[in-house]
Amino acid sequence: MTTIENRLPADYRAASLRADARAGLSATPKSLPPKWFYDAQGSALFEKITELPEYYPTRAERSILLQVAPEIAARTRAATLIELGSGSSEKTRLLLSALRSEGTLRGYVPVDVSESALAAAGDALAADYPGLIVHAVVADFGADLGIPASPDGDVTRLVAFLGSTIGNMVPAERGVFLRRVRERLTPGDRFLLGTDLVKDPAVLVAAYDDEAGVTAAFNKNVLSVLNAELGADFDPDAFEHVAVWDAAHEWIEMRLRARSAQSVTVRDIGLTVDFAAGEEMRTEVSAKFREAGVRAELAAAGLELRSWWTDPEGQFALSLAAPV
Ligand code: SAH
Ligand code: TRP
Repeated sequence: MTTIENRLPADYRAASLRADARAGLSATPKSLPPKWFYDAQGSALFEKITELPEYYPTRAERSILLQVAPEIAARTRAATLIELGSGSSEKTRLLLSALRSEGTLRGYVPVDVSESALAAAGDALAADYPGLIVHAVVADFGADLGIPASPDGDVTRLVAFLGSTIGNMVPAERGVFLRRVRERLTPGDRFLLGTDLVKDPAVLVAAYDDEAGVTAAFNKNVLSVLNAELGADFDPDAFEHVAVWDAAHEWIEMRLRARSAQSVTVRDIGLTVDFAAGEEMRTEVSAKFREAGVRAELAAAGLELRSWWTDPEGQFALSLAAPV
């Protein structure tokens, strides 16, 4: 059985997109928040990214889950799996299957800002996991987490945040986010976090600037979202995809660079924006982590790192944490 609960206030998407576009396009330097990549087209492009030869994080995280999902299931004995930013829920199947084998799983709560991704994932899961109660939640985890305070009494819950999506927040946002997650956990609950790790910058840059240009199309999709939803007149071809490694912050920064001087109008907010030739607008950061840093960020939020697993090549890590 699948239900979809939309926890976004009426008009939230339009109102917050307008506010973000106004703030980001008026700032110096210009920027846009990453959650607007993920309309139906963006979510489909992200799925293509996960299959690219250069984009190792999905494969690395899946290989860790293949190894440790049974141990996670045995240790957490969770009845409810809540997943933030669940997207297609593909890797999540390894956790669902392990928790089923453990005999404890009753419900799965995928939370995502993309209703189209939730609908597609929910239908596929309901078909493949008969009897599983899938309660999908449309929410913005940057605002209201979307984790029900106590969805089904005092059952044990596992909250998962995979794909290194936490790396798409800057450190201050991560602090707020982790404290919110911590507030929602009761003593037996656990938090499972996927983080991409610091490595050779050439490997990192290739993962965000692939040969086939899928990541470039994904990055430019945010301009199409502004065109479709705010009546803007961006020409996506007038911008170039840029991915750079920022060694000081240890993050990949995604930008869109104006190929020439141009003026763009965002009709619905009455804004005209001038770009100089070569001007760069930040669209995303993707932070890369080290074990000590993850441990410290979790601790600062009242979460204790209980296990740290990596793939054999040490590219990606999964952390299991408990509330203190
Ligand atoms: N967990 C999946 C998908 C990662 S892509 C994986 O590991 O492959 C990031 C996902 O987070 C997308 O599905 C996107 O729609 C969602 N997302 C991004 N920002 C969000 C926000 N602020 N609130 C809720 N979901 C968000
Ligand atoms: N969480 C993913 C990551 O940081 C999201 C992502 C992958 C992404 N490729 C991207 C975001 C390209 C923007 C552009 O790896």
